[in-house]
This record gives sequence, C-alpha cells and structure tokens, in this order.
Amino acid sequence: MTWKTLDEMDMAGKAVLTRVDINVPVENGRVTDTTRIDRIVPTVRDILAGGGKPVLMAHFGRPKGQPNPEMSLNIVRPALEAALGQPVAFAEDCVGAPAKMAVAGLGEGEVLLLENTRFHAEETTNDPMFAASLAALGSVYCNDAFSAAHRAHASTTGIANLLPSCAGRLMQAELSALEAALGTPARPVMAVVGGAKVSTKLDLLGNLVSKVDHLVIGGGMANTFLAAKGVGVGTSLAEHDLAETAQEIMAKAADVGCHIHLPTDIVVAKEFRADAPHEVLAVDACPEDGMILDAGPETVAAISAAMAACKTLIWNGPLGAFELSPFDAATVAAAKKAAELTEAGTLTSVAGGAFLEWMEGKTLPGVAALES
Ligand code: 3PG
Ligand code: MG
Repeated sequence: MTWKTLDEMDMAGKAVLTRVDINVPVENGRVTDTTRIDRIVPTVRDILAGGGKPVLMAHFGRPKGQPNPEMSLNIVRPALEAALGQPVAFAEDCVGAPAKMAVAGLGEGEVLLLENTRFHAEETTNDPMFAASLAALGSVYCNDAFSAAHRAHASTTGIANLLPSCAGRLMQAELSALEAALGTPARPVMAVVGGAKVSTKLDLLGNLVSKVDHLVIGGGMANTFLAAKGVGVGTSLAEHDLAETAQEIMAKAADVGCHIHLPTDIVVAKEFRADAPHEVLAVDACPEDGMILDAGPETVAAISAAMAACKTLIWNGPLGAFELSPFDAATVAAAKKAAELTEAGTLTSVAGGAFLEWMEGKTLPGVAALES
C-alpha cells in the first residue's frame, strides 16, 4: 500500500480538507448510533495536534443533488461536538462563499463542518469543476471515509488528484485490518457469510473460497446451497435458480481445500414473524410447509469449534432471520463466541458496501485515488 498517512503531511496553519463518513442513523432529529462519529475523532485530534485546521466534508443520506433540510449535516453537528468535546463551526454550503468565509474565519484549534456534499449533483458525478471548488478550500486532503471509498465521487476521488493527499486514522485502521484478514492473514482463516440472497454475494463467495480455509454460509444463502445439494427446504427463502452456481462454488471449494460449513440442524417455523411457533429439526427434515429461519444449536457448536481453531475471522451477514426474535439465536451465539475469541485490537468495520466490495477483490476508487 502506497498511500501517505497524516504523519507525513505538513499541516501547520493549513486547512486540511477531511472527508469523513458521518452518515449516521437519525430519529426525530437525534443521532441514534454515534459509532461512525466516534471513529473519526482520532483523525480530527491528530490534525489539530499537527497545527492543521480540520475542514470536514461528508455526505448524509441520498438527497439526489438537491438541498434538503432533512439531510442537513447540521442535524449531526451536536453529536459531533459531543464526541470531539468542542464546538464545531458549520458552513451552509460545502463550496462557494459560505464555505470560503467559514474556512477563512477558522482559528487555530477550531473545527469546521461543511454542509452535505450531495446537495450538489456534481458530487456524485465527480465533476472536475466541483472537485476543484472543494480543493480550493484547503491545502491538504485527508480521506478518512473508508466506508464511502466504493463511491467515485468528487469528495472521495476527484479532489485527491488536486491536493497532497493522505489517509486518515480510521481509513488506515480499516485498510490494515482488511489487509491482515485477506492479504497475508494468520491461518487458518474463517469467513462467515450470511444474509438473504446468494445473488448479491456471488462475487464475494467466489473470491473467498480461494482465500479462506473455512467458509460458513448462513441465512437464506445457506438454504440456496442446501437446495442445490438436493435437501428439501420447504417454503424457505432460497434462490432455486442459482443451484448450478452454488454447485460450482462448492466444487471450487473442494478443489482448493476450502471447507464449506452449512447447517446440520435447523430452526423451522410455519410463518415469517417474531415468536412464530418453531422447532429444531435435522437439516434433512424440513417439512414442505416449513420455513428455515435459523441455524440450530448443533450447527452453532460446530461453527464455534471451527472458529476456535482459526486465527483470523471475517464476518459479513447474519446466520438466520436475526431481525425476528428468537431467530437471532444462532447469529448472537456465534457472534458471542467470536467476541470471546478475538483479542483486543480487533477492528469492527464501520463500512458496509465498501467492506463487501473490498472482500470481493474489487478496487475501491477512494483508496485507489490516494495511491496515485
Ligand atoms: C453508507 O452508509 O453505506 C455509506 O455512507 C455510503 O453511503 P451510500 O451508500 O449512500 O453511498
Ligand atoms: Mg450503503
């Protein structure tokens, strides 16, 4: 990896345009999960410590190129101030006079947040003029938004070619953890991949079988694999048209010595709702009117035992219908086991789509732009 870090940048007295991802959940005007905000604090603090002036750029929601008060970053500002323990100035536009004046008025030790970059359509089209307007606000570019690095937008890629650029602390941590997990991992490596649909994770599974020693498949995806093996899955969520693809993935895994773990026992209900009456059955005993909503205890025990023998774990997606209690049991039990086994220093990624695309072996434009 050839990108620079904050340690290599001369920031003293300079405005450091810092792309962060504070796209956090909000209910009734209040942030309900501050994880992403908390994670950018080290970057902001280090810029301040280096004498730089952090000018934070971010998107919030998908306003489709139009100003929209419901997606104003001013809503997020109080939570950001609380996390940083200091006031944060706000500019009502991320470019033009409001932004220029706010940057000009920024004193040493102060932090500025610019309004939602996606209020301009030119952000998502990565318009060169717009990227230049952003770049004109500062002298250094720092990208700390790994979770938005799968987007080739002006604030994540265009601007990186216009200013001396570096990765922020969170970007550094995310990239190092991913490199440790899939680049040159300590073996054996286990990947847990769950979720509803195989069709959305085909590239991921294809890439993982050649990289990991154990591949645990859970959720609706497991049903697709079971069906492909000729196991009856009743009315379960399954993509029967992907049987051949699932067989190819299993054949490839057998070729390269990747052990695929599928459920050996299942939790079956007649309907998809919380607390639906259910029973634990052997995997081949699902009735025709039954629906598999979770992996059973025997499966969890097998996964846990394999996990205990592994040195690296990558996890994406649930093992069952975890949004419906009690069908979150297998996911929660396996996650607790993982938490017990992992040492301090383990990184929980705050990225969704970017994490997935990285695991699929794809190049992330926001990371590539830092490298060039
Ligand atoms: C996210 O929340 O997934 C990231 O902030 C990226 O947002 P996006 O999917 O709207 O580009
Ligand atoms: Mg997303």
